Amino acid sequence: DMSDQEREFQDKIDADIKIEPRDWMPDDYRATLIRQMGQHAHSEIVGQLPEGNWITRAPTLERKAILLAKVQDEAGHGLYLYSAAETLGVTRDELTEMLLDGRMKYSSIFNYPTLNWADIGAVGWLVDGAAIMNQVPLQRTSYGPYSRAMIRICKEESFHQRQGYDAIRKMAEGTVAQKKMAQDALNRLWYPSLMMFGPSDKDSVHSAQSMAWKIKINTNDELRQKFVDQTVPQIEYLDLDLPDEGITWNAQRGHYDYTDPNWSEFFDVIKGNGPCNVDRLAARNKAWDDGAWVRDGLMANARKKAAAKMA
Ligand code: 3HC
Repeated sequence: DMSDQEREFQDKIDADIKIEPRDWMPDDYRATLIRQMGQHAHSEIVGQLPEGNWITRAPTLERKAILLAKVQDEAGHGLYLYSAAETLGVTRDELTEMLLDGRMKYSSIFNYPTLNWADIGAVGWLVDGAAIMNQVPLQRTSYGPYSRAMIRICKEESFHQRQGYDAIRKMAEGTVAQKKMAQDALNRLWYPSLMMFGPSDKDSVHSAQSMAWKIKINTNDELRQKFVDQTVPQIEYLDLDLPDEGITWNAQRGHYDYTDPNWSEFFDVIKGNGPCNVDRLAARNKAWDDGAWVRDGLMANARKKAAAKMA
């Protein structure tokens, strides 16, 4: 049973009217957005780590400049999303603390390592490709500040995907050894990329309500299928082997069939047991602790200025 307020809210959602920060909203709508947007922001920030690791080792000056720009973009995406989340009544510091002590998550994908330069190409191609597949529909999400942040983010994200494809293409068309590295990166990052879309629909606890509220526009499996359908022809164009023997065109469905990821691995990774979970959180905690003197200095300066104004 809905109250009049809830009915009015749902009518707005159904009519595609954006919800703005000062509008009434159900508590669970607010909480779901804080979780999803916070998790999304943390993913952007933690996502800098596997790529930042390769800035000093990029093979050419041009690749280095591109990677540097991309990693800086991710920081910007995190900031847009933290700012958008703050309109829901949570502070960026609170969100950060929840990440640092493990109360909030970030995307499972960033718990996998980037072992070599081919992985950086594959991250751009597959990880940013999966990210943008999920983010394009989120431009139409019902919460105004989130949807507007997504519009900017998607513009940059499509550049990230293209630079990744370009980097991996260079390797796939390179020497035998380079092509082998590209294949190996594809094989290792394929399933972690498919997992980014979240658990299968039957295990997705939030999808039904989030879709009724248009926080989410598509189910996890819908977007995963779209990603497979988009990526298989790219793999073939690169003349690489398919990373899953189960991939076959299904003319009846009009989609590629594929083998599902190992879901127990996924749930294990989001519980904190992936190959890099400990390292990633340690790096974020260290950055937070190392920055304490900057925050203290800014606060001291603000207090001094405020006192001078009063005098
Ligand atoms: N990694 C970590 N946790 C995940 C996850 C993933 N890939 N997919 C799902 N989960 C978690 C959910 O948070 C939820 O946790 P909870 O039970 O503790 O609340 C649980 O698994 C169940 O999943 P649901 O399908 O019910 O969860 P959602 O409805 O939230 O759907 C989602 C998951 C599709 C990822 C959705 O949250 C979403 O669209 N989020 C916004 C996009 C986002 O976060 N993208 C980050 C990608 S990386 C990135 O953008 C950086 C880029 O620049 C490279």
